[in-house]
Amino acid sequence: MDTAPMPQANANPRTVRPDVIVVGAGIAGVTTAYLLQREGRRVLLLDDGAPGDGETGRTTAHLSDVLDDRFTEMERIHSEGGARLARQSHCTAIDTIERLAREENIACDFVRIEGWLMLAPGQDPASLDREREAAFRAGHVGVDKFDHPPAPVSHPGPCLRFPAQATFHPLKYLAGLVRAFQARGGDLATGVHVTGVGQDADKAWVTFGDTTVEAGAVVVATNSPISDLFAIHTKQAPYRTYAIAARVDKGAVPNALYWDTLDPYHYVRLQPMADHDLLIVGGEDHKTGEARDMDERWARLEEWTRVHFPMAGAVEHRWSGQVLEPFDGLAFIGHDAGRGERVFIATGDSGMGMTHGTIAGLLITDLVLGRENPWAMLYDPTRQMTSSLGEYLRENLDVARRYLDLVKPGEVKDEAQIRPGEGAVMRRGAQPVAVYRDEQGQVHRRSAVCTHLKCVVHWNPGEKTWDCPCHGSRFAVDGTVLNGPASAPLPAVDGGDTHGRHAAE
Ligand code: FES
Repeated sequence: MDTAPMPQANANPRTVRPDVIVVGAGIAGVTTAYLLQREGRRVLLLDDGAPGDGETGRTTAHLSDVLDDRFTEMERIHSEGGARLARQSHCTAIDTIERLAREENIACDFVRIEGWLMLAPGQDPASLDREREAAFRAGHVGVDKFDHPPAPVSHPGPCLRFPAQATFHPLKYLAGLVRAFQARGGDLATGVHVTGVGQDADKAWVTFGDTTVEAGAVVVATNSPISDLFAIHTKQAPYRTYAIAARVDKGAVPNALYWDTLDPYHYVRLQPMADHDLLIVGGEDHKTGEARDMDERWARLEEWTRVHFPMAGAVEHRWSGQVLEPFDGLAFIGHDAGRGERVFIATGDSGMGMTHGTIAGLLITDLVLGRENPWAMLYDPTRQMTSSLGEYLRENLDVARRYLDLVKPGEVKDEAQIRPGEGAVMRRGAQPVAVYRDEQGQVHRRSAVCTHLKCVVHWNPGEKTWDCPCHGSRFAVDGTVLNGPASAPLPAVDGGDTHGRHAAE
């Protein structure tokens, strides 16, 4: 796919005493930094990679105010008023992206389109009627029911059509917003791996390497917070989701968002290219660290695509991303209760990261500036999971069970059994070791104990990473952190990197 050149960053922060430090340059962090800079605050934006290098660069970028946990479910959990407020916040997020793209002249392919929710085969058609009524109560007055989606989409069942949804190119938008942030005096520094966040009575601070930078407030927008080490991670669970992009002729598929009612559901949008379109199809989600059949998942996605979109041509790209699922369907945005009033977090994208990230920018800007915001309680990170108690207990029991991995036998007994390009957890006495053999035969051994809260990592053959099933930390084969909440790498053990014999040699 085409990408967007990111503006240059500084190797080191220039701002000596910023008003606000934002950690994480994805959609939530960049939007927050831009809006606060626009309000006259001096903002320092930090990331260990380039803007959009994390999950924002992997999103399929649906811009929707149709909550993917369903309005009926949102009403049950958050009340009718809560569901209405949630829809309104996502609607405002889409409007904000459209407005900022216009005001800052960002060419990001933003377009308003319809959304089609397709009832999966065998499900009760009356559930669509109930969803339509709940959507109406949440303020979606233009939703209509149809017997099928627009031709030539091949789906036999009834659908709901939602007006005023949208798509855009997230990296083009992010690059434009970063440029506008810098043009207004904002300071972006990349290659900065923040390892500590905290606050004293009159200031907040972050540390990286031997450096500490102080500010009036710190916003942690690292997808999974590196500041809150425990509480927030008991209220959400990490999932992997899969996507493919297939070539289609321009105009062959009506430009709209499509998704179905399966669990996990399929989701579809178009990305315009110079002389064709790409049909981007996602789905096949599973809990992080709990599957090794990535090729089969991509194959099933392609199969589903060819049934519903028979005009789809060759699959040109495939990838996966991480979704943090809050047990009550809404992101956590606000004060980090464990750190104090000067530290803020944004997490729990719930598969709606582009709108939740933009809501984070709007809401945290108001909180930092001491302004009231009608969404503050809805997204409060300290809220209780009383209406989602079953889910809360189930997921946390699952995490507790994961600690049994610490005493389980290894997946292989001899590292010679590990083929080039593959990894497995072995045991060396009491210690689980993550062993990866690269294509050149070099063997890389790291501790398999996650540096967050000590679960055992699992091999992800699709991404060639070590993934933690407990709270979603992910590590490269050399131990480097790819996803928080862990911030320390997996240490080298047992000789680290050496050439090792493979059984076929
Ligand atoms: Fe929490 Fe690994 S992410 S223990």
